[in-house]
Amino acid sequence: MNIVLINGSPRPKGTSALLSDEFIKGATAKGHCINVFNAAKEELHPCIACDKCRTAANGCVFKDGMEKLNPLLLSADMVVFVTPLYYFGMSSQIKIAIDRFYANNSALRAQPKKFAVLATCGDQEDWTFDALKLHYESLGKYLNWELIGSVYAEGVYVREDIENSSYPERAYEFGSSL
Ligand SMILES: Cc1cc2nc3c(=O)[nH]c(=O)nc-3n(C[C@H](O)[C@H](O)[C@H](O)COP(=O)(O)O)c2cc1C
Repeated sequence: MNIVLINGSPRPKGTSALLSDEFIKGATAKGHCINVFNAAKEELHPCIACDKCRTAANGCVFKDGMEKLNPLLLSADMVVFVTPLYYFGMSSQIKIAIDRFYANNSALRAQPKKFAVLATCGDQEDWTFDALKLHYESLGKYLNWELIGSVYAEGVYVREDIENSSYPERAYEFGSSL
């Protein structure tokens, strides 16, 4: 499969990065092609709801990192969303990229894709990830994309925490199960 992985963590060696790396190792071993888009490293403007993407001939008014992501998204069989939990939601870095799907809304909704979520957080309450899970499930329903797996890593504030857990192995196994 042609997979695009969108990472929303600003930490290049953080907990999300480890989950991503393990997922990529597993999926690559099975011959899948993975393109990584680091939302936190790209110049990305938040959607300003000007609707020019719907009316103007040359699309979105912002010519920024989305010009790299859009073709990857439009040609992907699968999208992997990777995010640390920030105040019970996804990071603002990845949310900016998702809001910018608006410019290709119809095309993205018309393309059957698989998707997955890799997420990390510090707390361990049984409800900590509830809002994030619901958000991604709703997004998938709206886009007509099929949620085929996820790794939600709780209790991992920093890299050392996740290194001492089974989550990296679970991310690898998920990747290699594709
Ligand atoms: C701005 C901010 C908000 C956070 N909000 C939460 C939260 O709501 N719940 C939680 O359990 N952890 C929260 N955390 C902790 C991170 O989710 C956790 O440290 C995660 O492992 C960071 O991932 P990273 O290393 O990939 O960036 C927050 C961290 C930051 C910086």
